[in-house]
Amino acid sequence: MLTVAIIGSGMAGPVLALFLHKHSIPCVLFELRNPNSQQGGNIALAPNALRVLDHLGIYDRLRLRGYNYDELAFANGSGLVLGKLWNGSQKLYNFAALRIHRSIVKEELIRECEKKGIEIRWGKKCTGVEEEREGSAVIRFEDGESVEAQFVVAADGIHSKIRPFIFPGSDPTFSGLMGVMGTVMAEDLKSLGEKHGLDLPCMVFGERGSFAIMPANFSGNELGYFATLEAEDRGREGWQKLEKNQQELKEMLNERFLPEENGFPALVQELVEKTPTETLTSWPFMSVPHLDSWSSPKKRLFVIGDAAHAIPPTGGQGAAMAFEDAETLAYVLARVLASDFNANNLPDIVSKWEHHRHARIVKVIDFTTKNGDLRKSSPHYYEHAAKEWVIWATFKWMGPEGGAHWMYAYNAESVLGALA
Ligand SMILES: Cc1cc2nc3c(=O)[nH]c(=O)nc-3n(C[C@H](O)[C@H](O)[C@H](O)COP(=O)(O)OP(=O)(O)OC[C@H]3O[C@@H](n4cnc5c(N)ncnc54)[C@H](O)[C@@H]3O)c2cc1C
Ligand SMILES: *[C@@H]1O[C@H](CO)[C@@H](O)[C@H](O)[C@H]1NC(C)=O
Ligand SMILES: *[C@@H]1O[C@H](CO)[C@@H](O)[C@H](O)[C@H]1NC(C)=O
Ligand SMILES: *[C@@H]1O[C@H](CO)[C@@H](O)[C@H](O)[C@H]1NC(C)=O
Repeated sequence: MLTVAIIGSGMAGPVLALFLHKHSIPCVLFELRNPNSQQGGNIALAPNALRVLDHLGIYDRLRLRGYNYDELAFANGSGLVLGKLWNGSQKLYNFAALRIHRSIVKEELIRECEKKGIEIRWGKKCTGVEEEREGSAVIRFEDGESVEAQFVVAADGIHSKIRPFIFPGSDPTFSGLMGVMGTVMAEDLKSLGEKHGLDLPCMVFGERGSFAIMPANFSGNELGYFATLEAEDRGREGWQKLEKNQQELKEMLNERFLPEENGFPALVQELVEKTPTETLTSWPFMSVPHLDSWSSPKKRLFVIGDAAHAIPPTGGQGAAMAFEDAETLAYVLARVLASDFNANNLPDIVSKWEHHRHARIVKVIDFTTKNGDLRKSSPHYYEHAAKEWVIWATFKWMGPEGGAHWMYAYNAESVLGALA
């Protein structure tokens, strides 16, 4: 019997494995994909995400492979900067924010797992829970194999195969927004040379939605962008099809951003025009209903990361929450698997962990949802004016910290106090 089986080797899975390894707890990762399957797109890692990676000793390597920045500028459709918010700060939080290819983060995590001798079983698709017993749980795989472990942690993303066992009927739903990302090299852009008036990274709020422009490599010459568009639901297969259909993505962007009167600065138009089609990726923003618990009745199965709570990408906190879940749960499992632990206390310690994490996730989702509302397009002038006013007010009254200090300053080690 395994000690800990982890399903999914995305963001939360390998991080949990590495923290367990630190506590000398054996575990095995089971991942649906192949080691070399590629996924495009960039991700922004806020200080609270980077603090977790720093505890693993991986931050210093990642830092040199992405774009480090403190301030994110907010601009209106004319390119007028309405204000700046800190996404990171060495001085305030010990970490600048980091914009980086998602695949680089995965690559470094996997490499670290391999270095530590953690077993990853690729091409293993979990299909669900077979049974939860007194001291273990049994999960099933598509190839017919069953695996028994003292603890099973599902870090298998938004379409988790374990979540329905813990919380039946908790299917993800489409939020009405989608993101399209593309990449352009700075040297290919004419309008960057002229005075385009935008400080990068920048989030532009136009009359037809928002458009974020963020450098994504260390020297900053690789410019990624992230357009948030309203969309109709296409269903899971439809979204997967769209992600592969880069021509259609290109047309969606052209339609919205190429017309002269698009309500965006010239740089936006040029970025869309010059985007190599093969760099385009897309994502529907999904949400998962609020779950009262992230553990099974006998506390042998857990869900973490997107499997437990899908956070819309508008707050840049999805991976961060997945990392924090993983680190905090590792501390819980280290206590529970210690030789002096009384098994009768299992439900109590798990519920303390859940309380601690619930309180935080609820606040983060609230912050993120407000951000998402701001990003929607506002066809009516007054609504748009009101939106600008809200942004202005945020800067005026909260200062550049934007009321986000509590979010970025969090240290996952603080769960230890809550478990005591
Ligand atoms: C467009 C977009 C932009 C984002 N931007 C940001 C950002 O800027 N900052 C940020 O912090 N977050 C961002 N996020 C969110 C972030 O990517 C996710 O929250 C994060 O990846 C969640 O990690 P996870 O480990 O829970 O799930 P995932 O990273 O989705 O990993 C799940 C893993 O499980 C595997 N798997 C799935 N099903 C099975 C199965 N049945 N059996 C075995 N394996 C399985 C998958 O192949 C995958 O490897 C963004 C998300 C999107 C969609
Ligand atoms: C941006 O703000 C400036 C100053 O308030 C205003 O003159 C301009 O019209 C705004 N642009 C758009 C597109 O809203
Ligand atoms: C991004 O920056 C790094 C470091 O400065 C550089 O080595 C790399 O070539 C750049 N990427 C591209 C695609 O130019
Ligand atoms: C940066 O701050 C803005 C505004 O609060 C937010 O929308 C964005 O998601 C943040 N990004 C990160 C990585 O924290």
